[in-house]
Amino acid sequence: MGEMAQKIAKVDYDELIKTLNVAFAEEWLAYYQYWLGSLLAVGPHRTSIAEEFMEHANEELKHANMVANRIIELGGTPVLSPEKWGETAICRYEEPSNPYTVELLKQNLISERCAIARYEKICEMTFGKDYETHRIATKILHEELEHEQEITDFQDDIISEQEHLSPKKLTN
Ligand SMILES: [Fe+2]
Ligand SMILES: [Fe+2]
Repeated sequence: MGEMAQKIAKVDYDELIKTLNVAFAEEWLAYYQYWLGSLLAVGPHRTSIAEEFMEHANEELKHANMVANRIIELGGTPVLSPEKWGETAICRYEEPSNPYTVELLKQNLISERCAIARYEKICEMTFGKDYETHRIATKILHEELEHEQEITDFQDDIISEQEHLSPKKLTN
């Protein structure tokens, strides 16, 4: 950790680095979950959902990069082995064993909401204390919220199409 960085530190950095490593491991798992889901997806809106998942995957990888760089700047070490991602992460890896788009959307929504909670926590830990980590966490939080919105938009589209296709009762 740089001299100036240490001087202006007002947070428990051991705790912060630990939480950043949780987020880092979760980003890799999220990347893999989306990347694999994108390749496997079948069912309603397959093509556009696969494209969206690949975009999300790339963004999760960028997040992993941002978080790892910040861990290093703070004098920590990012999780060194992929084998440790699962045990370090608190958000569960949602295995895409059912490649139906409706199921994949549900799983990725759970993961996004867990990621949102993680970055909210990091924002709280650093608010007014570590401006740089706070800036990074806020930027990532914003993108996770966008991911959540994009998933629920797909879910709403699928629901409204199903309603449209099902026979309606006629009344007068
Ligand atoms: Fe992410
Ligand atoms: Fe995300």
